[in-house]
Amino acid sequence: MTSPLILNSVADLRRTVAAWRAAGERIALVPTMGALHPGHVSLTARGRESCARVVVSIFVNPTQFAPNEDFSAYPRTFDADLAKLAAAGVDAVFVPSVSEMYPDGFGTTVTLEGPAVADLEDRFRPSHFAGVATVVTKLLLQALPDVAVFGEKDWQQLAVIRRAVRDLDVPVEIVGGPTIREADGLAMSSRNVYLSPAERAAAPLIYRTMQACAARIRAGEPGAVVAADGRAALEGAGFSVDYLELRDAASLARVADGAAGPRRLLAAARIGATRLIDNIAV
Ligand code: PAF
Repeated sequence: MTSPLILNSVADLRRTVAAWRAAGERIALVPTMGALHPGHVSLTARGRESCARVVVSIFVNPTQFAPNEDFSAYPRTFDADLAKLAAAGVDAVFVPSVSEMYPDGFGTTVTLEGPAVADLEDRFRPSHFAGVATVVTKLLLQALPDVAVFGEKDWQQLAVIRRAVRDLDVPVEIVGGPTIREADGLAMSSRNVYLSPAERAAAPLIYRTMQACAARIRAGEPGAVVAADGRAALEGAGFSVDYLELRDAASLARVADGAAGPRRLLAAARIGATRLIDNIAV
């Protein structure tokens, strides 16, 4: 098992990727904030399906956290992350500092519409997607990969990135990797480590409730009624629900009952101090 190259500067990343490209190899980038779990590892495997080289970036991006959020507390587990990436056969890990990504005088932000203002995550985290789209655009332009892989667990984020890449003509294929779940259904997330044992035991109710809602909607019941029932069930079990809504899977627009096309049920709920999100196809 060889350890991945560790790259700290944009110049080193560009040099490394350019040498691979000159050798005729395709490159996949998997952007992450570290605290890696099997969901992240599955994204590297997804990149490997079509690319000889896989680069993982690890950067806890300050601009996507609001002042009241968990930027300083966000888990940082670099040594364990590196061991997992080595075991997964990743070729390089890009670990820039904050000043490498945001040098003095940095003053440019990607402004978003469309799925970024769908009244879901953006209602509760108004500056979040501008921070995500800006850092992802930078990472894509720094690495210039053929493919970039993102988890479907952050469904709205994936939709925002797809739209930004299309609108800005960034020459990269965006690939979504399916959500990886614990045996009891809880979607894997770096933030699951915040859950107390009692909260961890309760957390899978989000997925179970969403599955029950999706089954009723597929059977023809009205989306709004079913979602309201799901919300009440979660609140009755002690969750504080930010949203539980049925949307068009691509645009994230609200959908009329019986409308054609893929639909997605998306949820965000707090249990104790931890906010969990999830989504499933309907
Ligand atoms: O999903 C994440 O981990 C982050 O939002 C991302 C895409 C790496 C941007 O910082």
